[in-house]
Amino acid sequence: MAQGHGKVILFGEHGVVHGRPALALAVQDGAEVRFEARYGGPTTLHILPWDVRIDTSDVPSQDAAPLQSALKVARALYDDDLELDLHAQMNLPGGAGMGSSAALGVAVLRAMDEARGVQREDAEICERSLAWERVFHGNPSGVDNAMAAHGGVAIFRKGEPIQRIVPRNPVYLVAANSGESSSTKEMVASVARQYERDPERVGKVFDGMASIVSNGRLALEQGNLRHLGQLMQLNHGLLSSLMLSTPTLEDMIRRATEAGALGAKVTGAGGGGCMIALVEGKEHQAQVAAALRGLDKAVYEVETKA
Ligand code: PMV
Repeated sequence: MAQGHGKVILFGEHGVVHGRPALALAVQDGAEVRFEARYGGPTTLHILPWDVRIDTSDVPSQDAAPLQSALKVARALYDDDLELDLHAQMNLPGGAGMGSSAALGVAVLRAMDEARGVQREDAEICERSLAWERVFHGNPSGVDNAMAAHGGVAIFRKGEPIQRIVPRNPVYLVAANSGESSSTKEMVASVARQYERDPERVGKVFDGMASIVSNGRLALEQGNLRHLGQLMQLNHGLLSSLMLSTPTLEDMIRRATEAGALGAKVTGAGGGGCMIALVEGKEHQAQVAAALRGLDKAVYEVETKA
C-alpha cells in the first residue's frame, strides 16, 4: 500500500511562497493507494470516497479535469508501457487546506514506483510530486508535497531540504472547515499583488512570520504549549493584515478560544477554508471540537506523535 500524508501549516503560510520558512505538521491521516498492473489501455485512478474515476486516455474528464491532468503528468514520468489501475482511499477532507491533493499525488507516485520495483528516498518523491501540485496550485511553495512525502513535523523553505523538528510532546489540534470555498491560487495571487504594491509593509509581515516560525520551533522542542498558542494568535493577526481571514473564520476562532483553546488561527491559503486551534490533550480536544461542531462546521481532530 502506497501512502502520502496530509498536513496542517502551523506557521508561515504565504510567507513561504516568498522565500520565508513555514512550520508544518503531517497529520495522522492521508491518502492510501493500491494498484493492479497490466499492459495496454490507459492508467486509471478511482478515488473511492469521492467516487471519482479518471484515466490517462485522451477523453477529457467532465468533472475532474485537473486531477486527470495531474495523473497524466505523473504517468509521463515513466517511459514504459506498464499501466496501472489505481484505487485511492482518502482519509482527509478534500479541498480543505489539509494537503489532500499533495497526499494523493505522493501516494500515486509511490504506487507507480512500487509497481516497477523502484525505491526512492522521500526527498526524491517530494521533488517528483511538485509537478502534480503545480497542476492544482500554479506556483506552490512545495510545503504540501514536502510534508506529504516526509511526514512528521518540519520547517520548510522553498528549494531547501526540510529541517525536521522533534516536539517534546505530541501536539493536539482541532481543524475546522469554514465551509467557505477559497482558491489557493487566487489567495496567493492576492498576497503577491499586495506585496508588489507595498513591498516594505508586506515584507515586514513575512519577516514577522519567519520569526514566529523560529520561536514556534523552540516552543515545540520545549513543550511550551502556552507560548505556541500565543504565537498562533500572532501569526493569525499577521494573516488578517493580509486580508486572509473572514467573519466566519473569526467567529470560529472566537468560539474555539472561548472553549479554552490555547491559540487559534487560519491555516493554509485563507479567505475561507480551515482554521486550527491548539488544545492541551485529547479531552480538551473533544471539548473544542464539540464547540466548533456547534457552529455546524466539519471538524477534524489532529494528533501528531512526537
Ligand atoms: O491551502 P493550502 O493548505 O494548500 O496551503 C497553501 C499554503 C500557501 O502558503 C498559501 C501556498 C503555498 O504554496 O505554500
